[in-house]
Amino acid sequence: MKVTVVGAGNVGATCADVLAYREIANEVVLVDIKEGFAEGKALDIWQKAPINLYDTRTVGVTNDYSRTAGSDVVVITSGLPRKPGMSRDDLISTNAGIVQSVTENVVKHSPDAIIIVVSNPLDVMTYAAHMTSKLPRTRVMGMAGILDTARYRAFLAEALNVSPKDIQAVLMGGHGDTMVPLPRYTTVGGIPVTELIEEEKLNAIIERTKTGGGELVKLMGTSAWYAPGAAAAQMVEAIVRDQRRVFPVCVKLEGEYGIDGVYLGVPVILGKNGIEKIIELQLNEEEKQLLENSRGHVKEVMDALDKINASA
Ligand code: LMR
Repeated sequence: MKVTVVGAGNVGATCADVLAYREIANEVVLVDIKEGFAEGKALDIWQKAPINLYDTRTVGVTNDYSRTAGSDVVVITSGLPRKPGMSRDDLISTNAGIVQSVTENVVKHSPDAIIIVVSNPLDVMTYAAHMTSKLPRTRVMGMAGILDTARYRAFLAEALNVSPKDIQAVLMGGHGDTMVPLPRYTTVGGIPVTELIEEEKLNAIIERTKTGGGELVKLMGTSAWYAPGAAAAQMVEAIVRDQRRVFPVCVKLEGEYGIDGVYLGVPVILGKNGIEKIIELQLNEEEKQLLENSRGHVKEVMDALDKINASA
């Protein structure tokens, strides 16, 4: 299996590193526009192989997409991260052009690839990549739900003083402050979370999850990378190993949840064909309202992208 990661910044390099040391692919190609940058990161990861004992070949290239040809999966992390005070949506005008041109190059050399978008604003960059690629919606998706759910699970594990391994959760909607964590579908070793934690504490964790990315931007002056990179690698693994894992993933909805033509995070089954199935939960009225709110927000940013593209 061959996997390309476009963008050798913090998130892309972390993703490539996880793919290599967990031997998720035989070959990982790292691409960047900055001369020598991807080559250096890939060489560093390769030099770690004798220490961590893996044989995934890691190769870095400067903007040479011919080297990515025939990739099974491509992860797009290109674009700018945010700085303190910025929302993810503030990145749209810079990142849209980058993601669109990267997608053109990716599809030209790997027409059979499955594409995972990580760049922000996530849902709208997934829209940009999907439109540019002209691939079926099952093969172009965005990584956010695994990351947001991981933050929610990590905060819960800390509050309950239990292993994060035992916390299962679903989270839906856009990758922003309107995301929709679902306490009704959150369990700790099979026990509904609502039986283990007071409502007030749970609500505080939900609010912290919604702004989890921003909390890290404030602390570090730039966006997170360990959890985002690992989350993208987990999606690659589910695809290349045909694991049929159930994850929240951003995909174009075509009638599911009564939503048409908007890109949102929903639970899916992820396997060798990409999105094998979209799972439709029976949401209650309050959850439907929260999802509608998230849909409205993502649609506004999608419309903003349409305007940028129309005026270009
Ligand atoms: C995240 O959630 O960590 C990413 O979307 C990056 C960011 O700026 O928040």
